[in-house]
Amino acid sequence: MLRIVLLVLLSVPLMRQVLCAQDPDDVRQAQADAAVSAGKAQFRKTCAFCHGPDARGASGPDLIRSPLVNHDVNGNLIGQVIRNGRPEKGMPAFSLSETQIRQIADFLHSEAKIAATVARRVPTEYPLEKLLVGNAEAGKKYFNGAGGCSECHSPERDLAHIASKYKPIDLQSRIAFPPGAVPTVVVTEPSGQKFTGDQVYADEFLISLRDRDGWIHSWKRSSVKVDIHDPLAVHEELLTRYTDKDIHDLFAYLETLK
Ligand code: HEC
Ligand code: HEC
Repeated sequence: MLRIVLLVLLSVPLMRQVLCAQDPDDVRQAQADAAVSAGKAQFRKTCAFCHGPDARGASGPDLIRSPLVNHDVNGNLIGQVIRNGRPEKGMPAFSLSETQIRQIADFLHSEAKIAATVARRVPTEYPLEKLLVGNAEAGKKYFNGAGGCSECHSPERDLAHIASKYKPIDLQSRIAFPPGAVPTVVVTEPSGQKFTGDQVYADEFLISLRDRDGWIHSWKRSSVKVDIHDPLAVHEELLTRYTDKDIHDLFAYLETLK
């Protein structure tokens, strides 16, 4: 049974290719565009209320950056969520047809592709050879020189074997957007008393930190002096500094750290 399902799943794109090989490219493109538009209309009608009109999230999560959507093929995972829902978590079930689900999936994948291009990130299906367009020597030089990476990193210590640790696509995105690393916050009360700890929450009105003993303290931001040290602020700033060539070179260099 499983084998049949797999066969069908695998043969659908193949069949499409075979069938479409006879059609001119623009017919195929028009069909794909039509599916995406139909999916968008369906999404706006049924899903946008919670996920936002562009699927970037509202009361429901951002679907463009959802790993589940990312791993979906032709609606296989998205379809399960739509049909079963997650009622206990606020996601209702919908009885949509195969075609409707497929069109919604096409729409979400198309949005994700656009988002990836805009962020100058590389789509997940990129093979390593396509990512490895930089020059490792130049990358090493940039790492130790203009890039300033060696101020915080070392190829022998924290970045040792980094290329074995992550898939190329994940390594590339980690250079730009490393996850984790919680900011450190120092709050000084009007009396002069200081509190230091990991940031728990921060917006323009409130600040909370967890001190070394695990206690959480919160303040109205206007009533205290706040210093936030974000270890990743540099990475965000890097994004505005380095060129496409720099990041390709850096990536080529880091890929040598097996
Ligand atoms: C009433 C609000 C609501 C509507 C309407 C809604 N969703 Fe959701 N959806 C949610 C919530 C809340 C979650 C998060 C559930 C959880 O935490 O597991 C979710 C989760 C999902 C997920 C899983 C995301 C992930 O990364 O795990 C997908 C896919 C999804 N929704 C697609 C849809 C689609 C497609 C539609 C329209 C057919 C839709 N949703 C309509 C509220 C909604
Ligand atoms: C001011 C310090 C600083 C500088 C400069 C800096 N980084 Fe980072 N980098 C960090 C911190 C902090 C993290 C998060 C570490 C963690 O989560 O363990 C990080 C994470 C990373 C990661 C992910 C590591 C992992 O295991 O997930 C990579 C890759 C990386 N940096 C590459 C670079 C490159 C390339 C440069 C230079 C262009 C650079 N960094 C410059 C502080 C810095």
